[in-house]
Amino acid sequence: MAEIRKLIAAAIAAAGLGLASGPAEAAETPALPEHTWQFEGVFGTFDRATVQRGLQVYNAVCSTCHGMKYVHFRNLEDIGYSEDEVEAIAAQYTVEDGPNDQGEMYERPAEPTDAFPFPYDNKQAAKNANNGAIPPDLSVITNARPGGPEYIRALLLGYEEAPQDANLQPGQYWNTYYPSHKISMPQMLVQGAVDYQDGTQATPEQMAHDVTAFLHWASNPHMEERKRLGLKVILFLIVLTALLYAVQRKIWADVEK
Ligand code: HEC
Repeated sequence: MAEIRKLIAAAIAAAGLGLASGPAEAAETPALPEHTWQFEGVFGTFDRATVQRGLQVYNAVCSTCHGMKYVHFRNLEDIGYSEDEVEAIAAQYTVEDGPNDQGEMYERPAEPTDAFPFPYDNKQAAKNANNGAIPPDLSVITNARPGGPEYIRALLLGYEEAPQDANLQPGQYWNTYYPSHKISMPQMLVQGAVDYQDGTQATPEQMAHDVTAFLHWASNPHMEERKRLGLKVILFLIVLTALLYAVQRKIWADVEK
């Protein structure tokens, strides 16, 4: 029986519900603050200026610890960059390639066909640099966490003074919205952490909004196409319904009532 209970607890933890440590702790995580996104709703799209600022935050801040192995630099053309701009963005990153003719791996500047690289040599190095925690890949992060973009935004802004009895290990920080509250990612979005090219004020709220929108685009690069297709299908169904109705009227017109 105890075995089964343990298994169920593990399954819940694996589902990312964060309930494994008991209902008391889970209950302490407050509801996520409501937030309005341009990409919400049937007509919602990714605001280009927002996601481009989000990329700037990702490049300047997040990429020092996180990678996005499913997002290729050339995908950035979808959010409004030209081929040359994509090449320039890629070239800011270094990737490992090889082996060369001598059988050795070597480093080179990234190209548009490369993905956003994981910045550490391997998982052990990542753990070693981050208090034993591995910074997860952010390619599909807004889909991979309950609460989606609301959670990611709240997490980035959720750093607070730890309660007295928190027992934080060195390298751990208190975050209101992280399921166990103790997170090994420091607060990154402090006032002016990036210098926005478009002159927007880089407040923590602004950066959290922008980078989350960018990560949501990364997780759902085909969202706009999907919505457009959905609308077309609905329009088609409306026209079809009208046609069928007209045909039905015509067919039955001569039948005596
Ligand atoms: C100094 C390294 C570092 C930087 C910079 C950093 N992170 Fe992290 N991040 C981490 C680590 C380490 C973890 C894993 C935390 C843990 O397991 O306790 C993490 C975890 C996360 C998670 C997953 C949280 C969860 O629910 O599991 C998200 C989302 C995230 N980071 C987003 C970001 C974003 C967005 C940025 C840029 C604004 C960023 N990180 C910058 C180190 C970093």
